[in-house]
Amino acid sequence: MGDRYRHKLVHITPGPVVLPAIRSDKTFGRNAGLGKNAGPGIMQVGRNLIIPGGTRVIDATGKLVMPGGVDPHTHLELEMMGAKTADDFYKGTRAAVAGGTTTVIDFVLPNKGQSLIEAYNNWREKADSKVCCDYALHVGVTWWSNSVKKDMEQLAADMGVNSFKMFMAYRDSWMLDDYELMCAMEACKEIQALPQVHAENGHIIARNTQRLLARGVTAPEGHLLSRDEEVEAEAVNRACVIANQVNTPLYIVHMMSKSAVRALQEARRRGQKNPVFGETLAATVGTDVSVSIMMSKSAVRALQEARRRGQRNPVFGETLAATVGTDGSHCRNACFRHAAAHVLSPPCAPTPPPRRPSSRHWLSTDVLQVIGSDNCTFHEKDKELGKDDFSKIPNGVNGVEDRLAVLWQKAVNTGVMDPCRFVAVTSSTAAKIFNMWPQKGRVAVNSDADVVVWDPRLERTISAATHKQAVDFNIFEGQKVVGSPQYVIVNGRVCLDDGVLRVAEGSGRFIKTPANSPYVFGGQLPGAAAPEAHLTIETPTKYTNGNTPSPD
Ligand code: URP
Ligand code: ZN
Ligand code: ZN
Ligand code: ZN
Repeated sequence: MGDRYRHKLVHITPGPVVLPAIRSDKTFGRNAGLGKNAGPGIMQVGRNLIIPGGTRVIDATGKLVMPGGVDPHTHLELEMMGAKTADDFYKGTRAAVAGGTTTVIDFVLPNKGQSLIEAYNNWREKADSKVCCDYALHVGVTWWSNSVKKDMEQLAADMGVNSFKMFMAYRDSWMLDDYELMCAMEACKEIQALPQVHAENGHIIARNTQRLLARGVTAPEGHLLSRDEEVEAEAVNRACVIANQVNTPLYIVHMMSKSAVRALQEARRRGQKNPVFGETLAATVGTDVSVSIMMSKSAVRALQEARRRGQRNPVFGETLAATVGTDGSHCRNACFRHAAAHVLSPPCAPTPPPRRPSSRHWLSTDVLQVIGSDNCTFHEKDKELGKDDFSKIPNGVNGVEDRLAVLWQKAVNTGVMDPCRFVAVTSSTAAKIFNMWPQKGRVAVNSDADVVVWDPRLERTISAATHKQAVDFNIFEGQKVVGSPQYVIVNGRVCLDDGVLRVAEGSGRFIKTPANSPYVFGGQLPGAAAPEAHLTIETPTKYTNGNTPSPD
C-alpha cells in the first residue's frame, strides 16, 4: 500500500448519525476475510475527537450521516437481447455515486456453453479500469454441466464470488429447467454460496407471447399481458420448494408483484417437510383412546405453529426502485418510446401502487429485505428493436442513481419507513447477505470510508435532462423528491462535494466476497454499542489505474 495513498483526512462534524444495525464482532470481519481489501477506512467515530491539522471539516449539522448505499443488482455493460446497455462501468458507477451508492454488485452473465471463469474474467476486464466506486460480482448459471459446477467451485474458492443467479425465465437464452436449477442450488450449498433466482415461468411466457403475437398484439403492453402476477408467483413458490428440497437459503431477485410476495410469505409460513401428527390425552376428550402428550391449548398452538413454520433456511426477498417509484401502467402508454422504456422483467404491477401494503411497506416490515435497482438501461434506439414485436424490446430500466432518493421520498417522507430501516434496506442488509459487512454498510472505526451526508431537505426534480446516467430516458421523470445526498465520500475521497460530482475513473476496487456469509449461514452476530457522531476518515490521492484525482 505504502505510497499508494498519501493520507489526507476528512472530518465530519455534528449532525445526528443514522447507523445500520451495529455489531462489532471482530471474527465477523476476519471470517469475511476482507482485511486484504481494506482501503482508506474510518479512523475515529465519537464526540470531541482530536482533529489533526490540515483536516477538512464538513459540517453535517441538520443532515444525516449514513453508510454509502450498496446496490446488490446492476447490469452495466451487458449485452442482452441484441443490444448493449447504455450505462458502462464508468457512467453507471458515476451515477451510482451521484445518488449516494458507493458499492454495486453486478451480474456476470455467461452465454450458454461459455465457461463461467472466462465470462468472469471478461467482466473484470470491462470493470476494473472504469469503476468509480467499489464493486463485487454475482455470476449467472445460465447453463448446466459438470464443468459449470467446477467453475462455480473455483469462483467461490479463489475469485471472490459468493452468489449465483439462476433464471427461471428467458427460455431462449439463460433459462434452466427445474432439474438443472436443483443441481445448481446443490452446487451452491456445497460451496456455501447463496443461490439467487429470477422467478418467472419462462415456458408460460413463451407460449403466451406466441399467442399474443398471433392475435396481432405487438405493442409493449403485450409484455405485461404475457406474464401476469401468477406467472411470477408460481416461480417464486417453485424456487422456494426446490430450495427446501436442497435445504439451502435462497435470495429471490426483483420481486415485483403482490402475488409473488404472497407466495414468498406462504413458503416461509409453510409446514414441516413431513406430517406432524397431534396427540392428546383421552381425559381431555372423554374417550378411552390411548394417547399421551399434548395437554394444553398452548401445546396444540405450538404444534399448529410448527405445521405452519416456514422454509428451513432463510429466503431473502429483493425488490426494485422501479416498484417503489413507478408502475406498469406506463407500458400501456400510446407513445412507443415511453412504453418501451418501462419494459422490464418481471414487470411492475400494472396499476399505480394502491394504498394497501405494497413494496415500500414490505420493505419496511421485513417481508422484503433489500431494494436494488436492476439498473439495465437501453437507449431509445435499442428499445426500438421491439417496435413491431414487444418480445424483442430489450428488458430493463434505470435506477442506480435514483434508488435512494425515490425510496426516501416514497417511504421515509410518507412515514412508512424510518431512516434506520432505510439504511438497512439500501445498504447494510445487502452488505451482510453478500458478506461485505462490516467493511461495507456500516459507519464505524475500520469500516470503509464510504459515507453519505444526506440532506433531508434538499429538493430536486428527477429528469433525464439532468441525471448522470448515460441513458436517454428516466422512468422517474418529473418526480419531485425531497432528500438527497449532499456529500458522498467514496473510499475516503469526497466524490460528491456539496452537490458537485468529482469521481475518478478506475478508483474503485473489486471486492472479493467470501463464501459462507455468517448472516446467511447462521454465524454469530453479537451486538455492540452504536458509535456516536463525528468521524474522521482517510482519503487517497492516487489510484490503481494510475489516475490522480482532481484536487478536493
Ligand atoms: O428486465 C430486466 N430485469 N432486465 C435485466 C435482466 C434481469 O432479468 O435481471
Ligand atoms: Zn432477472
Ligand atoms: Zn412518451
Ligand atoms: Zn437484473
